[in-house]
Amino acid sequence: MNYYIITGASRGLGKALAEALLEDENNCVVGVSRNSTITHARYRHQPLDFSDIAGVEHNLHKVFAPFEDAQKLVLVNNAGVIGEIGYVGQSKNEHFEFVFDVNVIVPAMLMNLFLQSYQHRPNCKKMIVNISSGAGQRAKDGWAAYCASKAALDMLSQTAQLEQDQLGTGVQVFSLSPGLIDTEMQEQIRAADAGQFSSVEQFRDYKAQGALVSPEDVAQKVMKLMEEPHLASAVVCSVRDF
Ligand SMILES: NC(=O)c1ccc[n+]([C@@H]2O[C@H](COP(=O)([O-])OP(=O)(O)OC[C@H]3O[C@@H](n4cnc5c(N)ncnc54)[C@H](OP(=O)(O)O)[C@@H]3O)[C@@H](O)[C@H]2O)c1
Repeated sequence: MNYYIITGASRGLGKALAEALLEDENNCVVGVSRNSTITHARYRHQPLDFSDIAGVEHNLHKVFAPFEDAQKLVLVNNAGVIGEIGYVGQSKNEHFEFVFDVNVIVPAMLMNLFLQSYQHRPNCKKMIVNISSGAGQRAKDGWAAYCASKAALDMLSQTAQLEQDQLGTGVQVFSLSPGLIDTEMQEQIRAADAGQFSSVEQFRDYKAQGALVSPEDVAQKVMKLMEEPHLASAVVCSVRDF
């Protein structure tokens, strides 16, 4: 059996990926997010709010079952938030903590426990796919916490891969930029105040011109990475590679 632990599986890209994987009877999915929206015999939901670090620390171990019959174990750190769009100097202090908890701190804890639990498991493919963003490489005004969090996720992934290579575990780690996806996150971006995000009109045009890709189509690209990881250009990679 193949086991996929997917955060943010309740909507958007995470849900599309979970549903596509569940079409194969050899796959089981553990979804981790606040809400549960999938009902399936091979789906298990672990409710967790990533902005509640004490709650996460108390419950995180529940995600990592022994999965004795696993031939493949994959962690997909997909849950993410952009937070309140606004300039540094005009934001609430809690905003930075919130975005970093959801986008970096809990993904790092999940990677840590995934590796502790499974890195030395023999005869089993092991992979971590962190869903990053081009915003981790290119600054956007109004998105400081989001850009910084995705840059951190990229470096976390590169460092973890370096370590796994040195340990010879065979674990593969990727930080994948998924492109522009037609999800609630994009709705929030289009609703931003132009004074707090100068590119807001460009993002409204992307939607109007049909430039956003469906979560289902992006999920197929993520699955291609998981099936053919040699196609990735590097640890930090893009759906354009697939
Ligand atoms: N959409 C884009 O154009 C785009 C572009 C580049 C990168 N990305 C990245 O792609 C990933 C998926 O984004 P998406 O567009 O599919 O977003 P989305 O539709 O807003 O879905 C976000 C997911 O994250 C979960 N989540 C949010 N806050 C959470 C919390 N406090 N605790 C636990 N889970 C939480 C949500 O589940 P609950 O609400 O049930 O908790 C939901 O399932 C994100 O990492 C995002 O940064 C998206």
